[in-house]
Amino acid sequence: MRCWLFFNREIAPEVPEAHEVMRFQEAARALDIELLVLKPSEFDLVVDSKHSWSAIYQGRELYKPDLIIPRCGSETSYFTLAVLRHFERQGVAIANSPAAVESVADKLHTLQVLAGAKLPIPKTILGKFPADVDLVERELGFPVVVKKLRGTRGAGVVLCNSRGDFDDLAALLDGATAASDFLFQQYIKASHGRDVRVLVIDGRAVAAMERKATDGGFKSNISLGGSALPFTPPPEMAELAVQVARELKLDIAGIDILFDQNGYKICEANSAPGFQGLERACAIDVPELVFLAMGRKFGLPVRHSERWEQAIDNAARAMFGAMKKPDVSELLDELPEPLPLAPVPARKRRKPI
Ligand SMILES: Nc1ncnc2c1ncn2[C@@H]1O[C@H](COP(=O)(O)OP(=O)(O)O)[C@@H](O)[C@H]1O
Ligand SMILES: [Mg+2]
Repeated sequence: MRCWLFFNREIAPEVPEAHEVMRFQEAARALDIELLVLKPSEFDLVVDSKHSWSAIYQGRELYKPDLIIPRCGSETSYFTLAVLRHFERQGVAIANSPAAVESVADKLHTLQVLAGAKLPIPKTILGKFPADVDLVERELGFPVVVKKLRGTRGAGVVLCNSRGDFDDLAALLDGATAASDFLFQQYIKASHGRDVRVLVIDGRAVAAMERKATDGGFKSNISLGGSALPFTPPPEMAELAVQVARELKLDIAGIDILFDQNGYKICEANSAPGFQGLERACAIDVPELVFLAMGRKFGLPVRHSERWEQAIDNAARAMFGAMKKPDVSELLDELPEPLPLAPVPARKRRKPI
């Protein structure tokens, strides 16, 4: 199988997310997959209805791949989306699809889709400046979370404890060039400094970890020093993560879930989730699971791709049981035990008034 992975940065140890790309290269070698890591910005797009295949990269023609895995996440530019759509139109399987990548790169768009599906989200206002502090107080109360629409790794998220703090920050942002690039969001107090990342691949929750801030702050991102522990999600939480991935049409998704007083709130969805902490916490091989799952989903010739069910059951069993590393070769003679996950109920829709 021939696969392309899209990544816009250099593959160097100090570059965020480069570790994940190297892990994909490792897993590809182990599964006899030919993997090219390409920068979408270096394609030349020639759109023309005459030719059935066109791919010009750094001035050279490339053969058609079987699968493209975009790993640009929330930093996906218009150019990258256009490149993805170019190959989608030419019949290449893409995991995740450009439409799905686009909708989760924008945190408000994500929440709009999830609100439409009646899934639990923190109430959120799109920033408008000068800010209407009374509206924010009435709708969200204080403290309130202010976040960048397209932030990542916790960098663009702050907590305003009081009306005074919010006033100061809003006055500062008022002068910013793209004011509507900010969200005001209800602060989920019960989740202060703590959340759960669930990895969903092809509609199955395969691993989860609990992340905790170690500095007393409210953000639990591992990139900010948060700790990660393997976590057994209650069935409702695993089901919620699966529903979120389904609504957002994500084949590969890192779903972040906050703890609320009487349940959960969805924090965000990532189309190219980092998984260094998750692999360490849960002893799983994420790229191998991705290749197996996508091989099965798109009918591609990946060695052992027919074993996806077993590999995934093994990963899920690790999540719910002894945290044992799933070994695909070991599974060839072994039948999986039933998953302790309850089936996902069909979503109930309320009647319009
Ligand atoms: N509404 C909220 N209430 C409480 N904590 C939050 C809220 N939103 C975000 N957080 C915390 O901040 C972290 C970063 O927020 P997030 O929206 O995931 O931004 P990023 O994309 O930068 O990771 C989350 O992992 C969570 O710990
Ligand atoms: Mg996050």
